[in-house]
Amino acid sequence: NNIVILISGSGSNMAAIVEAAQSRHWSTRYGARVAAVISNRADAAGLVFARERRIDTAVLDHKAHASREAFDAALMAEIDRHRPALVVLAGFMRILTPGFVQHYEGRLINIHPSLLPAFPGLNTHQRAIDAGCRFAGCTVHRVTAELDHGEYLDQAVVPILPGDTAQVLAARVLSQEHLIYPRAVERLIAR
Ligand code: GRF
Repeated sequence: NNIVILISGSGSNMAAIVEAAQSRHWSTRYGARVAAVISNRADAAGLVFARERRIDTAVLDHKAHASREAFDAALMAEIDRHRPALVVLAGFMRILTPGFVQHYEGRLINIHPSLLPAFPGLNTHQRAIDAGCRFAGCTVHRVTAELDHGEYLDQAVVPILPGDTAQVLAARVLSQEHLIYPRAVERLIAR
């Protein structure tokens, strides 16, 4: 029951999942562990945390690959070394090819910082503020070939308050991401 987590940046969701795995004893309860954290950026801050926790890390620079297909093939090879039951996208800022998505069908999930189906894509918080929404949130979903679609596994809602900037709202949403993402992963591996 290996879990592989893909990141591009700060990796706070990855860290929340690693914390849950260790503090909630996923390995003894479900025989599950975070086997590897893979980043497409060498400077992703999350790599430092993963290394501190003695988790295997790897960096695969997308710019070193001639095409999206070539990058995804290399990424699949790296992921598959760990024979994962679950591949978790946590702030992984690359669009994946249909071949990749198909390869991990049924075991690939993502977190998106909006209440899908509202605001797929980027700049979700500013767009929610600009649209005059009273609520924002985040969605854990299965990954399918279409961006930010696929079965919703969990959502959390936060208010949008007067005077909110995108940054303030993002922080409010992120604190909920850290609650629902580990919970969703645990539900999947506990089956
Ligand atoms: C999160 O807001 C996530 O929803 C989005 O990218 C951000 C990643 O943050 N996909 P982190 O790297 O987990 O801290």
